[in-house]
Order: sequence, then C-alpha cells, then structure tokens
Amino acid sequence: MSFDIQKINADFADKSPQEFLQWAVGAFYPRITMASSFGAEDMALIDMFAGPAGRLALQDKTIRVFTLDTGRLNEETYELIDRVRARYKIAIESYFPDPRKVEALERTKGFYSFRESLENRKECCSIRKVGPLARALQGTAAWITGLRRDQSVTRAGVQKIEVDDAHNGIFKINPLAAWTNDQVWQYLREQGVPYSKLHELGYSSIGCAPCTRAIKPGENIRDGRWWWESPEHKECGLHLPKREKK
Ligand code: ADX
Ligand code: SF4
Repeated sequence: MSFDIQKINADFADKSPQEFLQWAVGAFYPRITMASSFGAEDMALIDMFAGPAGRLALQDKTIRVFTLDTGRLNEETYELIDRVRARYKIAIESYFPDPRKVEALERTKGFYSFRESLENRKECCSIRKVGPLARALQGTAAWITGLRRDQSVTRAGVQKIEVDDAHNGIFKINPLAAWTNDQVWQYLREQGVPYSKLHELGYSSIGCAPCTRAIKPGENIRDGRWWWESPEHKECGLHLPKREKK
C-alpha cells in the first residue's frame, strides 16, 4: 500500500480526530488495530469508534483492540478493561510477554531491576512490551495509538499518519496528535466515557504500576512515568522515530 503521507497529514491537519479515524478505517480496514493502555487518550479513541456515533460513522466496522499485559499493570487498569468490554461490547486482546524471558529476568535480576539503570529499564520494557507489540502487529497494515504532540519532548513531532520503521514500515495512526490534554478530558466528560480510577488519584499517564505515580501540582503530564529518569529517556520502545515518506 502506498500513500503520500505528507499530503494526508496536510489534508487532515485541521480535521477532527473522528474524521481522520474514518479515513484511516476506510483505507486500512480490516487490517487496522488499536493499541490501548486504557489511559484517557485511549478511552476517547475507543469511544470514537466503538460508541454509538462511531459505529454509525464506521458502518459497524469493528476495530481490533489489543493491550500489552506486562504482568505489572495496576488493578485499576484490569478493572477498566472489563468495564470497557461490557460497555462497548468489544473484545480486548491481551498480549503477554514470553514467560521464559520474564522468568530469566526475574531470576537473574530480581523484581525491580528497572530502577537500577536505564539499560535495565529498557531491557524490562523490551521483554514486557516491545516483544509482545511485534506479535500484536503481525498481519496488520496500520495501528492506532493515543500519542499526542504535547505529551513530552520526545513526542513533539508526532504526525497523524506516520510510517513505523520499527514494524516493517506499516502505518501508525495518531488521531489525537494535535489534541491537548484539556481537549481529551472535555471529550470524555461530554460523552460520559468511562476512565481509569487512577486519574482520580492524580495519575495523568498510565503504564506499569511500579513505574508510574501520580503527578504533583505543576508537574508535566509524563513526570509520573519513570520519574527517576530524565525527560528525553521516557520512552519504552513502543514508539520509535519515524520517517515521512514511504
Ligand atoms: S508509553 O510508550 O510511554 O508506554 P504511553 O503510555 O504514553 O506510551 O501511551 C502511548 C500510546 O501507546 C497509547 O495511547 C497506546 O496506544 C500505546 N500503549 C502504551 N502502553 C500500552 C499497552 N500496555 N498496551 C497497548 N498499547 C499501549
Ligand atoms: Fe518493566 Fe516498568 Fe517498562 Fe513496565 S514500564 S515494562 S515494569 S520497566
């Protein structure tokens, strides 16, 4: 499949996430899937395609939703997943890490090796997230994420459609790239979308339990992720640099 992604990004620059989603689903269905960590952005997206308005606009096309169950997620996340399943009547495909790799990691380095060095942290993310992601994306042409430009310095260049070099050059669809945190929350409130109880406890971003905390007043949205690391390192490897043309 060949697309002029610069032109598509320009054409959709001022269009809503819903309009862009509709285009993407039209272009890639059924080989399009959504990656969800069940944070605020992902809940807005799920509602946009699996809520009543989304189903109508997408003529009942069902988007496959998957989550990377690292084994270290918060209880609140598992609870929300079951609420989403019941409310939107969609299946959530969970992907586990390779048990042999987790066992080897825990047996050799213990249960909190990720706190000891950046290298160890990336090793854990690689085993628990990046490996399973490759499996989840097999056979797909495009994946939808909740990435936004203003989430962090590492995400300032996020485009609505990108080529994902880390995954065989498939397309990455980021409908909320241009949205602010306030726009996400306005959408959730206006549409009555369920969201994680962790947000009520001050969490602005949701990841693994031992690597995520609530943020304090004045802190940035991703300051609660891997809070012992500096901002330019705060990526787990799911989202690697992109190129603009394919
Ligand atoms: S992360 O790379 O630091 O973990 P973040 O939590 O901001 O990323 O989430 C960005 C997007 O990555 C989410 O909107 C979602 O699409 C995807 N994502 C992150 N974590 C997971 C997960 N555990 N399972 C599936 N998708 C995920
Ligand atoms: Fe491991 Fe933490 Fe990465 Fe989760 S976020 S995979 S626990 S290092």
